[in-house]
Amino acid sequence: MRSPSSLHDIPTPALIVDVPALDRNIARMAAFFAGGPCRLRPHFKAHKTPAIARRQLTAGSCAGLTCATVAEAEVARDLCGDLLLANEVVSPDKCLRVAALARERALTVAVDSGAGIDALAAAARSAGVTIGVLVDVNVGQGRCGVEPGDAAVALAARVAATSGLTMRGVMGYEGHLQPLRDRVERDARARAAMHELVETARRIRAGGIPCEIVSSGGTGTYDISGRVDGVTEIQAGSYALMDTDYGSVGVPFEQAFFVLGTIVSRPSPERCVADCGHKSMTKDHGHPSVKGVDGATVTALNDEHAVIAVPASCTLSIGDRVQLIPSHTDPTANLHDVFYAVEGERVVDVWSIAARGYAEHRQ
Ligand SMILES: Cc1ncc(COP(=O)(O)O)c(C=O)c1O
Repeated sequence: MRSPSSLHDIPTPALIVDVPALDRNIARMAAFFAGGPCRLRPHFKAHKTPAIARRQLTAGSCAGLTCATVAEAEVARDLCGDLLLANEVVSPDKCLRVAALARERALTVAVDSGAGIDALAAAARSAGVTIGVLVDVNVGQGRCGVEPGDAAVALAARVAATSGLTMRGVMGYEGHLQPLRDRVERDARARAAMHELVETARRIRAGGIPCEIVSSGGTGTYDISGRVDGVTEIQAGSYALMDTDYGSVGVPFEQAFFVLGTIVSRPSPERCVADCGHKSMTKDHGHPSVKGVDGATVTALNDEHAVIAVPASCTLSIGDRVQLIPSHTDPTANLHDVFYAVEGERVVDVWSIAARGYAEHRQ
C-alpha cells in the first residue's frame, strides 16, 4: 500500500495519533517526575507501540518501562535496559521466556504466590540467570496480590531465600481508584493505599530483606501516589494517548488519539453512519465521542458501523471523514496494526503497534 500523505487518504477505519498532543502529554508527565525522587515507568500495554515508548523514554524521568505480558516485554526489550513485568507469570514456557529476557536485560516480575516463586526460580536456575521480583500486594483493587503486612512479608522472605531470584521490592496497583471522579476521595484513598504499601516495604526491610522498589500508580493517581514518601516509581500508561473515560477524571492530559472513519450512510437528517464499529474501538467504557461535530452523539457501535445522531443542520455527508474519541485506550490500540502519526492533516509517519494481539500464536 502507498503510504497516505494526508488524513483524507488513510483507509478507514484507522487509528490516528496527533503527534504534537502526544508529545505535550509525554513532556507534561516527564516534567512532573523530573524533580524526583519518584520516577516514571510508563506502561507499554497502553499503546504497545515502540515509537511511542521511545518518545516517553527520550523525554526523561523514566526508571524503565512497565509491561503486562511476556510478549510485550519481548518487544520492549529493544527499547530499554530495565523492564518490569507488572503481572504474575506462572506457566513453565513463559517463565523460560522471562529467563531468556533476564539474560540480556534487568527484568523484574510480580509474584503473589509460592507456586509463582517456584515456577520463576526453576526457569531462572535452568537458564543460569537471576530474575528480579516484586511482591505484588493487594492495596484494594481485589485482583492479584497478597494482603499487605504479614502475608507480603512472608512471601518476601520466601523470595529472598530462593536461589535464582532477587528480592527487589513491592508493587501495589490501586486500579480501583484510577477512575474516581471525586478528586478529594481519590486523593485520600490513594494515599491510604500507598501508606499500606510503604509500611509493608518498611516491615520487609526491618526483617533484613532488600526492598528498594515500591511501584504503583496510574494516570488517575500519578500525582497523588507519586508524591507519597517511599513510593519509588509510577506505572502510568493512558496519559500519553488519553480516552473519554480519563477525560472525565480531571487529569491534565489532552486527547491524542482518534479512530478515523468515513461516513457511509446518511439515512435521515438526524442520522449518520460511519464505517468504524467496535471492531475498530472498544465500548467497554462506553460509546466514543465525536470530535468537532456540534451535537453529534454515538448511539450504537456495531461490528463495522458507528451510528451517530446529529442535528438536522449537520452538514456531514457520505464520503466525509469523522474522528471518534475512544472511551478506553489500551484495548482500542490493541485492535489495530498501526498508528498513523499526524500533524494537523498531514501524515508524518506510520507507527507499528508491534506488541498488539498475542504474538506467540502468529504463524
Ligand atoms: C498493574 C498496572 N499498573 C499500571 C496501570 C496503568 O494505568 P493507566 O493506564 O490507568 O495509567 C495498569 C492499567 O490497567 C495496570 O494494570
